[in-house]
Amino acid sequence: SNDGEVIKMKKVLIIGAGFLQDFVIVKAKQMGYEVHTVDADPNAVGFQHADHYGVVNIVDEKACLEYARENKIDGVLTAATDYGVLTAAYIAREMGLPGLKYEVAQLIKNKYQVRKCLFENHVDDTEQAYEVHRDTNIEELANKIVYPVMVKPCDGSGSRGASRVDKAKDLKEACKYAMDGSITDRAEIETFIVGKEYGAETLVINGEVHVLGIMQKWMTNPPYYAELGHSIPTDLKKEVEAKAKKCVENAIKALAVNFGSVNMDMLITEDGKVYIIDIGARMGGNMIGPCIIPYGKGIDYMAAMIQNAVGDSVDLSVKDHCAVATKLLAFKDGIVTKLPDMNKVEEKFGVEIYHHLKKGMKVNEYHTNLDGCGYIVARANTQKEAVEKAEKVLDYFKEVLFED
Ligand SMILES: Nc1ncnc2c1ncn2[C@@H]1O[C@H](COP(=O)(O)OP(=O)(O)O)[C@@H](O)[C@H]1O
Ligand SMILES: [Mg+2]
Repeated sequence: SNDGEVIKMKKVLIIGAGFLQDFVIVKAKQMGYEVHTVDADPNAVGFQHADHYGVVNIVDEKACLEYARENKIDGVLTAATDYGVLTAAYIAREMGLPGLKYEVAQLIKNKYQVRKCLFENHVDDTEQAYEVHRDTNIEELANKIVYPVMVKPCDGSGSRGASRVDKAKDLKEACKYAMDGSITDRAEIETFIVGKEYGAETLVINGEVHVLGIMQKWMTNPPYYAELGHSIPTDLKKEVEAKAKKCVENAIKALAVNFGSVNMDMLITEDGKVYIIDIGARMGGNMIGPCIIPYGKGIDYMAAMIQNAVGDSVDLSVKDHCAVATKLLAFKDGIVTKLPDMNKVEEKFGVEIYHHLKKGMKVNEYHTNLDGCGYIVARANTQKEAVEKAEKVLDYFKEVLFED
């Protein structure tokens, strides 16, 4: 035996230290890793829980690599932010750590390239897609495409810049709106799908694809396309959920994702057609990592993600689970006049609440994810009960927060 040998904790670097990354930081600490994190915001919440941090912009690949090298990290990952995906892949490549191939990270970043790849590999039921930039002749294109279409930034997130177009004459404005929301000035046009929205969360370990869960999603009414909540289980028929799972696996193979988390949005039509509409090579946002997968599937997803990143053996064992539903704290314009004691609310309704509400705070009508004030997480025996429980708490907040 190695009596007296000092066991060195592996060092994990988490790219980003905001609200959702903080759950991963806390988890990694609990698991006994030495936790490092970087974020441009000197007040990032995750800094409080990490062992070491650097105030570094997470899109600055070289600066993040320098931090990683100086601290001799053993693994790197990002969670719930698209901005960290390339940087994590870059550091992994440069330091020879487990990670997503850099070329794959680059491909995933562009919605049009992803769509093209899925189409060429017959992964799902999607048809037309076009990419436009500032020089594209949109009038010409407008007469060629089949309406209705969805126009969105090629590199968007949180549903910013996305809009539906029904007529040729409205295409130009929608393209401008989407390009304005893109850091690369690029927009994608694709067939508008009428269906219900679902999500899929997957972890790729040594090239092996593990679909951890298919989630039902609730969205705002048009013209906004923002997430209002999730649940496990879904309302899908068994065979349709199985088809969705197969599409997810095929998409990941077609895109050659070799490592880590993959979060997808899908639209599924009444007749069971599956359309993959959005892919991120990172953990999903909106409490998917900390609550939805562990509560709904019994898998300690964030722990598995971290183990995977540092090259430890990954535990995907299934523990107790039940139905789970989340609701975004999404409101109309208003000022928060009253903040109830959240512990009491949690106790009274039997839910968990995660929020950044403050008394006197101005709340914007919920149009994109950025307008959300937090989450209600409800567990119950059935999907219906869980959803109703979460909705009840949301109704309570709508009433109590904005009283004059
Ligand atoms: N082709 C489409 N047809 C219908 N709705 C769509 C389509 N593409 C996107 N949407 C809606 O817009 C939302 C945002 O689009 P998405 O591609 O997921 O962008 P983001 O990266 O901002 O999440 C989706 O969740 C969905 O509700
Ligand atoms: Mg999306």
